[in-house]
Amino acid sequence: MKIKNICCIGAGYVGGPTMAVIAQKCPEIKVTVVDINENRIKKWNDPDVEKIPIYEPGLSDIVKETRGKNLFFSTDVDQAIEKADMIFISVNTPTKTYGIGKGMAADLKYIELCARQIARVAKDDKIVIEKSTLPVRTAAALKNILDNTGNGVKYQILSNPEFLAEGTAVEDLLNPDRVLIGGDIETENGMEAVNALVDIYATWIPKENILTTNVWSSELSKLTANAFLAQRVSSINAMSQLCEVTGADVDEVARAVGKDSRIGSKFLKSSVGFGGSCFQKDILNLVYISRSFGLNEVADYWEQVIIMNDHQKRRFAANMVQTMFNTVAGKKIAILGWAFKKDTNDTRESAAIYVADYLLNEQAEIEVYDPKVTEEQIYSDLDYLGSRSGDVNRQAVTVVDSALVACEDAHAVAILTEWDEFVNLDWKKIYDKMYKPAFLFDGRRLLNSKTKKEIGFDFYAIGN
Ligand code: UDX
Ligand code: ADP
Repeated sequence: MKIKNICCIGAGYVGGPTMAVIAQKCPEIKVTVVDINENRIKKWNDPDVEKIPIYEPGLSDIVKETRGKNLFFSTDVDQAIEKADMIFISVNTPTKTYGIGKGMAADLKYIELCARQIARVAKDDKIVIEKSTLPVRTAAALKNILDNTGNGVKYQILSNPEFLAEGTAVEDLLNPDRVLIGGDIETENGMEAVNALVDIYATWIPKENILTTNVWSSELSKLTANAFLAQRVSSINAMSQLCEVTGADVDEVARAVGKDSRIGSKFLKSSVGFGGSCFQKDILNLVYISRSFGLNEVADYWEQVIIMNDHQKRRFAANMVQTMFNTVAGKKIAILGWAFKKDTNDTRESAAIYVADYLLNEQAEIEVYDPKVTEEQIYSDLDYLGSRSGDVNRQAVTVVDSALVACEDAHAVAILTEWDEFVNLDWKKIYDKMYKPAFLFDGRRLLNSKTKKEIGFDFYAIGN
């Protein structure tokens, strides 16, 4: 089966970069990315390619190369579905905020809407691929909806979880550790669909790195991978607190531990807490699934990763208040970095949101600088928490376009995202412009403590 036409529903952080890379590597395939969000599609089509809605190193170059040739962005979802041989579902699956499973389960309403739309529009056989992270057995629900339309169209459902990390999405897509494709590998038609997708990836990825499994293994592998990664971060963050009271240095511990080839050195960087759209959502999902099967010990085990992460964010903020003589009321605090990690403009579940909220509850005045996150996004993140009115958020928080401006007349600076540019700021100049004692809290262990202390800062890094 040779695929000529791909449609991707959802032009977000996953759909956008993934389709751009497929379009670049498979010039003979027409790739159309659709979204109901008109504004988002408009930005993807902006003649100035630097204005595409997602910031990822290297992405704008690929969009520039492929857009209008074999990569298209559109709001005409029906037409793209109808023409496609292969449909990727790449819509958001946030944690439910209502009803059964509130705060734990994944909200599948967007997925279901897509399935119903495909069922309504499709006139010929399709391969439908779940790309969004989903609870195990979602493919079965998708299949149920699609197979019951009664219009004779046949569907093959594949699971092809995305393992790209934001900030390195393009690199991860070009050189993935592995690609995982789950399908109905027991049947001939199922295998044919799996192979059609294998052929696309095999254009640029060695075949031995393309794993094929049954659908359930594929779905569960994605949740497992994210749970393991998040668990490493929570594990090192748990040690960071122990380091602080014993005099050990968490980076030294991480280095020593990571040298053990059985453990490995990645994902052992202690921080103010992990964020992003996946880790928390996927673990909550895992906890919810485990509980719904009555596996309470399994659920409790994974839930602890989230509890530790919440603790880390809270204790960082609490330590700031405590260190600044137990009050930050009326004091200006500069927050450097709002994104959940460097090299992305994504702020979902970013630790910065929670630290800022804590400080605002203590009546601090906050000035934020992030090189890629917009003012609108920062206010929207704070408003979403509902801790205070939008007006109060706008009075208490100012968003500025330089780190130096944010730090001027501040009592404290908090580094909450590890943007490279923060390393080489003129820290002496910043110190001179701050109130004394000038507190510097490094939530990312980004800065050299020795040189900052020499300048005169009261310097605190997590895990020291
Ligand atoms: C993650 C997975 O890595 C990726 O495979 C999956 O497809 C989606 O979820 P992402 O959330 O984009 O990717 O970024 P990641 O690099 O995993 O970082 C997640 C969070 O953990 C960030 O807030 C990051 O700052 C934090 N982190 C990561 C640490 O605090 N310490 C580390 O050592 C690594
Ligand atoms: P992710 O990080 O998983 O890519 P995003 O929220 O960045 O998540 O992107 C998901 C996109 O899916 C959003 O732009 C949203 O508008 C889009 N979307 C959700 N439901 C539908 C739908 N039924 N049809 C088309 N697009 C949809």
